[in-house]
Amino acid sequence: MMHSAVTTTEVAPAGLKGWLAGQVLSALPFMAAMFRRFRPIPRLGPVYAVTRHDDVLEVFRNHAEFGVPYKQTLDVLTNGEPFFLGMNDTPEYRQGLHAMRAVVRASDPAMLARNTEEQATALVAAAGGRIDVVQLARRVGCDTMAAYLGIPAPAIGRLDVWCARLFGPTPTDTAGRAALDAVAAAFRQHLDDAIAARKAAGAGPDDVLRRCLAAQAEGKPGYSDVEIRTNLLCLMVGGPPQVPMVMANALEQLLRRPDALAAAAAAARADDDALLWPMVREAMRFDPLGPAVPRIALAPSVLARGTARERSIPAGATVVVCFASAMMDERRVPHPARFDHTRSEEQYIHFGHGLHHCFGRRLSEASLHLVLKPLLRRPGLRRAPGAAGRLRKSGIVATRLVVEFG
Ligand code: HEM
Repeated sequence: MMHSAVTTTEVAPAGLKGWLAGQVLSALPFMAAMFRRFRPIPRLGPVYAVTRHDDVLEVFRNHAEFGVPYKQTLDVLTNGEPFFLGMNDTPEYRQGLHAMRAVVRASDPAMLARNTEEQATALVAAAGGRIDVVQLARRVGCDTMAAYLGIPAPAIGRLDVWCARLFGPTPTDTAGRAALDAVAAAFRQHLDDAIAARKAAGAGPDDVLRRCLAAQAEGKPGYSDVEIRTNLLCLMVGGPPQVPMVMANALEQLLRRPDALAAAAAAARADDDALLWPMVREAMRFDPLGPAVPRIALAPSVLARGTARERSIPAGATVVVCFASAMMDERRVPHPARFDHTRSEEQYIHFGHGLHHCFGRRLSEASLHLVLKPLLRRPGLRRAPGAAGRLRKSGIVATRLVVEFG
């Protein structure tokens, strides 16, 4: 019998634990400011945190001594098949990354942007003056990326729900883990079926799957059926679930700043996407994807060497790389509390840095703001009355922000 987690159209409810985590996380910006000032590389047992801009970039750049800890989580998703995000700097990492980079075309970001704006516009038009931005962004982020990669909708269940459920930490309780395993298995089977169907049908639309199968037919390495399945699966689970997180956060930040909201609305109405993106990117800085990403010290290391905050890090320690804090560090981000969309690009670390910097960065930079654009164009964009109109989160994941317009 099929597990209900596969067939449901509901993303898992927030729950008390998620709410509590959200409350704790909301105190982080204040704590991070204290640490940046008085103890920039604090230690809690085997865990160290880097909170300043310079130190965050140093850890990201030093991938030889600070590796990624994602393999175990990814293995649950892929059934043990390797994906490059889970690897340190090895020939396998380079080959895996190269195989996917080779099937991305320079024109893809613009194409994804067009599809994003088109779908978001249609959903906003159909919404009748009231919409949950989280739902809007989840749907658009998932559908446009699925079409780009070449993944059809499943006959049972929904891709955006599968992706949202598979994104994030692996549950430790038996029922939660069984549900996750069932969704991951269903997703792998769905991809196997999609690959087989595309091979049987011949060419099909110009999407990533078609380009991978063409490379496979030419005998290039990195494109076996299982490698294609693993890459499509991880890109789908790793990318689209972040769209509702960062776009709901960004709109919440704009709603808190009427001047910035008005300026973003004017850019949207003027169809000035080149101006709208820096505004949305700046709004994201006040509440980015999450507070940090983790690294594991692969060898003994010294951080911020030669400075007053120099710290020895033993092998095996976890280093929490606080990129949200770094984007508030006045040493590198002038007047960080000020909303200023004219900041230079180096001040932002939304997409990571160094070896593992975001594979989807160019695609995201071209399309994220276009999820909000049709809303910003509407006159009278405002929060819905009551609790629905305030951003709600489960941990770092946005779960609801209802707005009204017109
Ligand atoms: C909302 C937009 C997104 C944000 C804010 C974001 C953020 C990030 C960050 C911070 C990292 C670095 C992780 C680390 O160093 O531990 C990363 C890596 C990555 N992202 Fe994104 N991402 C976004 C969208 C996407 C999309 C749409 C895709 C897929 C097309 C994607 C695929 C990846 C992959 C595969 C990596 C790992 C790259 C590697 O290991 O070399 N991301 N992303």
